[in-house]
Amino acid sequence: MKIAVITGASSGMGKEFVRQIASHYGWLDEIWAIARRSEALEELGKEIGIKVRVIPMDITDPKSIGKLKEMLREYKPYVKYLVNAAGCGVHRSVEVTSAGDCAGMIDLNCRALTEITRLFLPYMRQKSHIVMVASAAAFIPQPEFAVYAATKAYVLSFSRALFRELRGYIAVTIVCPGPVDTEFLEHIGGKKRMPSYKRRFIARPEAVVNQAILDAARKKEISIYGFSMKCFFILCKIVPHRVLLKIVEVISK
Ligand SMILES: NC(=O)c1ccc[n+]([C@@H]2O[C@H](COP(=O)([O-])OP(=O)(O)OC[C@H]3O[C@@H](n4cnc5c(N)ncnc54)[C@H](OP(=O)(O)O)[C@@H]3O)[C@@H](O)[C@H]2O)c1
Repeated sequence: MKIAVITGASSGMGKEFVRQIASHYGWLDEIWAIARRSEALEELGKEIGIKVRVIPMDITDPKSIGKLKEMLREYKPYVKYLVNAAGCGVHRSVEVTSAGDCAGMIDLNCRALTEITRLFLPYMRQKSHIVMVASAAAFIPQPEFAVYAATKAYVLSFSRALFRELRGYIAVTIVCPGPVDTEFLEHIGGKKRMPSYKRRFIARPEAVVNQAILDAARKKEISIYGFSMKCFFILCKIVPHRVLLKIVEVISK
């Protein structure tokens, strides 16, 4: 059985990955769609031409991971595509963020992503693809978004190493978008709470995912949507971070 697996498939970019992978890879037998909200996954399944296997689960829950392991043992699928899109963020200073929220971000964005990747790797073959949804927040530390940015720096570092470990066998592409118009923005306080300079860079999930799928097909290591975010990536490499952070502080006022 040839499948694609997408975490965070109930909304935003994960949902869009389901739609676009279904249209690019019509020969897949199934798409395994993973998230906690089963109704949203069922609805998505109705609009897709390929069979969507709805897997409602919390990927940070060891019991659910156990069930996923059993499914893999039973079906022994060929995993053509794995997209790690599930993620969450809390936009507050460290001082006022609860210990639970800090641990929750690290648990989902880092530990669960690593566990899911390890789980599916033995079922991947030559020319399979892994897509990791990181963020432009991975490029530089982010005051008021410190833990989230650090988790995405982990995703970027982990995935770059994996890219090299698997080179010539399985392609790894790391997606690093700036702000994207999804539920994520609502969870972190809505567009209105964002500094006005950031609002200008909000991208559509369809465009970010389309670019990511094209970049994955070209086996590109990093996928960055939009000219401004590409410039930001280069700036973060050549300008000292303390200088960039000072500039951001000034333009955010
Ligand atoms: N939107 C942005 O501005 C932006 C920018 C850069 C990077 N990103 C990253 O992009 C990825 C996708 O986010 P998005 O923008 O598409 O936001 P989103 O619409 O909020 O999607 C997040 C997805 O993760 C799933 N999820 C959350 N916790 C989960 C858990 N414990 N177990 C299983 N699934 C879980 C959610 O589904 P359920 O609630 O149904 O579980 C949802 O499908 C995230 O990793 C995010 O950090 C977002």
